[in-house]
Formats: sequence, structure tokens, C-alpha cells
Amino acid sequence: MQRELTLELVRVTEAAALAAGRFVGRGDKEAADRAAVDAMRAVFDTVDLDAEVVIGEGEMDEAPMLYIGERVGAARGPGSERVDLAVDPLEGTNLVAKGGPGAISVLAAAPAGHLLRAPDCYMQKIAVGPEARGKVSLDAPPEENVRRVAEALHKPVEDVTVIMLDRPRHAALVEAVRRAGARIRLISDGDVAAAVATGLEATGIDLMLGTGGAPEGVLAAAALACLGGDFQGRLVPGDEAERRRIEAMGVQPADRLLTLADLVRDGDVIFAATGITKGDLLEGVRYTAQGAFTHSVVMRRLTGTVRFVEAVHHIERKPVLRELMGR
Ligand code: FBP
Repeated sequence: MQRELTLELVRVTEAAALAAGRFVGRGDKEAADRAAVDAMRAVFDTVDLDAEVVIGEGEMDEAPMLYIGERVGAARGPGSERVDLAVDPLEGTNLVAKGGPGAISVLAAAPAGHLLRAPDCYMQKIAVGPEARGKVSLDAPPEENVRRVAEALHKPVEDVTVIMLDRPRHAALVEAVRRAGARIRLISDGDVAAAVATGLEATGIDLMLGTGGAPEGVLAAAALACLGGDFQGRLVPGDEAERRRIEAMGVQPADRLLTLADLVRDGDVIFAATGITKGDLLEGVRYTAQGAFTHSVVMRRLTGTVRFVEAVHHIERKPVLRELMGR
């Protein structure tokens, strides 16, 4: 993939964040999501790219989502390099609706055929940073994974911080981690940023465990591939029809363990995210008299470069955004 694509893809998440940012605290998660989707789709179509959404939050008949199989980009057609996309225009719809911390707009891009193709079902997940790469497994009990992370990080188990979504389905997991003696940080939403945090030492997060969305899993795996960390997933079909759909899309059996290489094949991948509300990873969108401020991160596996991008946007000078934001 072209190096220039990294900055082009940040433009896409910036636009989605700017559009969704207008809905912070307004209690309307559908409107916020729609604004992010419309902005992401519109700006994708200004990028010299022939891309297909292979995992995201929508099916073809669920407008207005960016749906699995949707082609985006300004260079669609024969002769152009094909790219796979994982997208979540608004990761943390409830967070935006309530003005809570840590909502982001996020995407990952890799050469065609390199990202897991799967429906928007649940996924069991484990994520760690570079020091613990290769040391943990979804097949091991949580206590064992906590112990292995402590060992890899050369610190006592009591100093390990595990992050997970605060959900009733995680009750047994919480108990197991507490038995192991580690600290826990329970979050209301947003397990992409939570997983990415394990790869960035300054966040103080060492391990992410639990079940969340499959698109979010592929996005997190892309970021950890860039950061040199590790991620494993296991799809959790909700019913027999979903199991068949997963298997028809190429994951057989549907509940097999997916390693990082199954989620994001070896080779290049780009991860881009922009903060909508302020979180551990990124600042949120701020609007000023002159325009708006965004804070993004973009990473590329090939070079390992991690860039934080602060941008000031003059929305009245950006026709696509001006129209989308009604300015
Ligand atoms: P949305 O933005 O789609 O609401 O996702 C937020 C999120 O917290 C994800 O980070 C997570 O993977 C998923 O929801 C968990 O799903 P559920 O809320 O059903 O437990």
C-alpha cells in the first residue's frame, strides 16, 4: 500500500469524528452514528483508493451503515490496487449519546484478502502489548494469562491492570482475574481503544479480556499488529443462522481460535483513529470560532511508525464537510 494512504485515511476518521462530535450528549446515538457513517463514506470517495468493507457494523439491507461488501474510494475499477477495510465510523455510540469518555472513529486498511471477513457478531478477545506477544492464549484460563503477562512484564501480578467491558456476561471472568490478584478496569463501552491501550506503555493497561463486537476485534488486531503486540479472537455465533453465515464467509469451524495472523494476514496494514470524546488514547473533538480541533493516531505495520496527528479544521473551507455538517 502507498505510504501516502496513511494521511489520507486519517482524513477519513477525522471527518467522521467531526460529524459525530456534533451529537455529543444529545442522547441520539442513531443520529450520531448516521452522521459518522455519512462523513466516512463521503470522504472515502475523495481518496484515491479501490476498497471493500470486509468487516463493519452493517449488512447490505441495513442502511445507512457502511455494509460488508460495500465498495468505496475514488479509484474503483480495473487496474487499481484493491484494499480491504475494517470500519467503525463511531465506536462508542452510547458514549457519544451521553457525552462519556473514549468514543472514537476508527478504520483499518490492508491489501485485499488480508483482513478477516466476518459478520457483525460477538467475538471473545485477548490483547497484549509487545512484551507479552506470544505468551498468552484464549485457550488458557484467565488466571494463567494474567500470570504470564506479569512474568513477561517483570512485575508482580498485583501490579498488572486488566481492562474489560463492564457486562454481566463477564462476571466469571472478573472473578477469575480477581482470584489471580490483578487490578481490573471496567469500562462501559469501547473495547477497540481498550485493546490498543495494551500496546502503549504510558496507558498503564497490560491486558484486555472479554467479549465484544467482531469488527472491533479486527480493528484492535490491526492496531496491535502495527504496535508489535498480540491479539487473539474467537467468533461467538448468536444462533445457527449466524454460525452458517460465519462459515460461508470462510471461518471454519465458526468458533475456531483466530490468531493475529488469521485476523490480519502478515504484510502491511494501516490503522487510523480519531477521538470524538476525550479518552485515555486521544483528545476529543473541540469546536472553536475558527473551526474544529481533532486528535488522531495513525500507524503502519510495515515501518512501525505511530503518528499522533493534531489538526485544526476550517470547516467552511471544506466543501464535503461543510455540506455534511450543515454549515
Ligand atoms: P457501538 O459503538 O456499536 O455501540 O459499540 C460499542 C461497544 O462497547 C464496543 O466497543 C464493543 O465491542 C461492543 O459495544 C460490545 O457490545 P455490547 O454493548 O453488546 O456488549
